[in-house]
Formats: sequence, C-alpha cells, structure tokens
Amino acid sequence: MIQTVVLSTPRAVSTAVADFLTRAVGSTPGLVLGLPAGGTPIPLYRALVDRYRAGRIDFSRVATFNLDEFCGLAPDDPRTYRAFMRTHLFDHVNIPLERAHLLDGAARRWREEIAQFETKLAALGGLDLAIVGIGNNGHIAFNEPGPALIARTHRVRLTPATRRANAEAFGNRWRAVPTHGLTMGMGTIASARGVVLIATGAHKATIVRRALTGMVTPQVPASLLQLHPNLVVTLDRAAAAKL
Ligand code: PGA
Repeated sequence: MIQTVVLSTPRAVSTAVADFLTRAVGSTPGLVLGLPAGGTPIPLYRALVDRYRAGRIDFSRVATFNLDEFCGLAPDDPRTYRAFMRTHLFDHVNIPLERAHLLDGAARRWREEIAQFETKLAALGGLDLAIVGIGNNGHIAFNEPGPALIARTHRVRLTPATRRANAEAFGNRWRAVPTHGLTMGMGTIASARGVVLIATGAHKATIVRRALTGMVTPQVPASLLQLHPNLVVTLDRAAAAKL
C-alpha cells in the first residue's frame, strides 16, 4: 500500500522524514538503512545532524548502505557519493565508519565488489528501511529506464539524463560525468521492509505522477515501488502538483 504524505515545503519534508527516522532508530537502534545521494536528501541529512547534536538520535549501532556510486573515481575523489555522504552526514554523526557501507566505484574487481556488498547486506538481514529519491527519468538509485531491470547490485551504463543531472559536480560538463556506475538493484531496494521515497520541487511533478499512478514498467523503474507493501511517499506541494 502506498501512503502519500504531502507537505508544504522541502524543509517540511526533511523534518518529517528526519522525525520518522529518529523514531525508527529510537525503537530499533541497529536499524539497517539504505541511503541516497543527490540534492533531495541534503536538507534531510542536515535535519538528522541537528537531531544528533541535540542528543535526540544515536547512530552508534546503525548500519548504512549507500544506494549507488560512480565508476572510475578514486574513493577519495571529492565528486564521489562517498565524499558527498561524509560532507553531509558521516563526518557529523556517530555512525561507525565500518558500519557505513559504500560501493567502491574504482574497484577493478567490481564483480567481487558488488558480490561482497550484497553479502554484507544479507549478513545483516537486508535493509530495514530504504530512503530513496527519484530521478527525472524515473530511476531509483542508478537503476535506469530500459526494457528490463537487474534485481541485485550491478554495474550500469548511465543515461545522458542521469549524467546531465549530475553535471554540476563535474564543472557543468555532462560528458565529464562518469559513463558507468555501481548500483543496488531494484530487487535489493524493494526487499527493504520499508521504503521512503522523497521528492521535492516542481521539476519532479511529472515523473512522480508517472511513477505512482502510471503503469508498472521497467521504463519507469520507480513505478515498481507501487508493488511494495510498505511504501511511504513524502512530497512537497510542488512535487505533488500533478497527482
Ligand atoms: P536529486 O536526484 O535528489 O539530485 O534530484 C534524485 C535521484 O536521481 O535519485
């Protein structure tokens, strides 16, 4: 069942999701979380840092698994999602770094890298909660639109749309954005016991409508989440405008 929550502003969305996460970690301190990079979750991470500093949330037993990463960038490259996570969350809260799992997009043996990532996640019982954004093209993590989807963590060729959406960190030159990424598969994400989809801004209104009310199709990977038994969609008014 989809529960849709519409709030006035991106800030209200981040407050609501941060409060939800604070309660979830309060009742399950060892929560296993799937986390996104991107513009949408930045205010959410800021709200979580505020709650941590106020003593309201303790991440010391939490485990996190990031949804995706660019291929070909060294792990210390400031343009990686690993760097993004440190800047916006990990450097400011008490998540033990050995419990913050990120794919290494520079791994030569990427097949081993993705297998190990799935094994570590499975050893912790899979995701309790996946927080996901949605791309303008309907992708979830780097699961791009196409004739078929790959269920588990895999290497993917990024679409021009995704490379354009990420161009800012690469001098606004979309061709400088890596051509490939590693991503959790839709099956891995949809196996989470709960999924929270967040979308904000008028530019997301059309894809939010297609994903939530259109056909379930791999051409809109987010539409698969319609099948999830425990999906909460949290939108600001602008992103919900076409529902
Ligand atoms: P955004 O990206 O948060 O930067 O809009 C969302 C996504 O591509 O999943």
